Amino acid sequence: MCFRVLILLSLVFNVYKCSYKDDNELSMINLNCIFQDFESDPYGCKASHLSVSSRKTTIQKVIHGKGKSYNEILTFYAYNPNITFIPKGIGDYFPNLQRFIITKSRLRHIEWRDFRNMKNLKVLSLNENKIERISQCAFQYLENLESISLDGNQIKALNERHFMNLPNLVTVSANDNSITELETDLFQNNLKLKDILFRNNQLKAIRINFRQLRSLGMVDLQSNKCISIKFECCDYFSEFIGNITQKCEGPGICN
Ligand SMILES: *[C@@H]1O[C@H](CO)[C@@H](O)[C@H](O)[C@H]1NC(C)=O
Ligand SMILES: *[C@@H]1O[C@H](CO)[C@@H](O)[C@H](O)[C@H]1NC(C)=O
Repeated sequence: MCFRVLILLSLVFNVYKCSYKDDNELSMINLNCIFQDFESDPYGCKASHLSVSSRKTTIQKVIHGKGKSYNEILTFYAYNPNITFIPKGIGDYFPNLQRFIITKSRLRHIEWRDFRNMKNLKVLSLNENKIERISQCAFQYLENLESISLDGNQIKALNERHFMNLPNLVTVSANDNSITELETDLFQNNLKLKDILFRNNQLKAIRINFRQLRSLGMVDLQSNKCISIKFECCDYFSEFIGNITQKCEGPGICN
């Protein structure tokens, strides 16, 4: 009985497709870039005076000093830009981006096409913004992504569709948000996952099947509603699972 319900549910979820239409009215802006070497990141574009308040804002032209070609830009970096949306089209200019970093902005919504044409991206870092909502399709283009970092935002929920197309993911960090639940299938396609960091959230339910994550390294669940533990795999794995099932809402319907 229980299994049938699960199979039905998963069928319904799998039918879900990411198909959206583009807006026809776009608002075009220039992207001012300082092309430079970063200390630890590869050569890239540091955005200056970036200001975006509409979801239709699209990059029309990149303005930059002398430097390398667009193909050689591997990092996009914006610190404290005045944006509530990510401007569209960054991936069209820099097809080889490996790192995308926006920090300390007013960014609130992550949209389905924000990372379009960024299939080489390995690191996505969106720490200390004001992100509340992330489209379930936002990360669908990032099949080579290894690390995603969403620390210090206002995210309330993530679900299994967010990470579905990210088979190479090694690190998920979403410390300091307001997430209440880690769903059963949240990491069902992320079997290389090593570090899972959800410190200082509002977790009440933890339904992840940790046993299927064979590369598990660090799990940080400190300062949550139901639990406060940090676990380094794997000497006391059963005790860790025991602690979670004892204190938090677990896998639900089948228990
Ligand atoms: C940020 O952008 C908004 C909307 O475009 C504008 O009203 C505001 O003055 C800008 N703030 C700063 C500090 O530039
Ligand atoms: C399980 O919980 C106990 C009591 O809170 C704690 O001392 C122990 O370190 C936890 N073990 C693991 C592996 O998380």
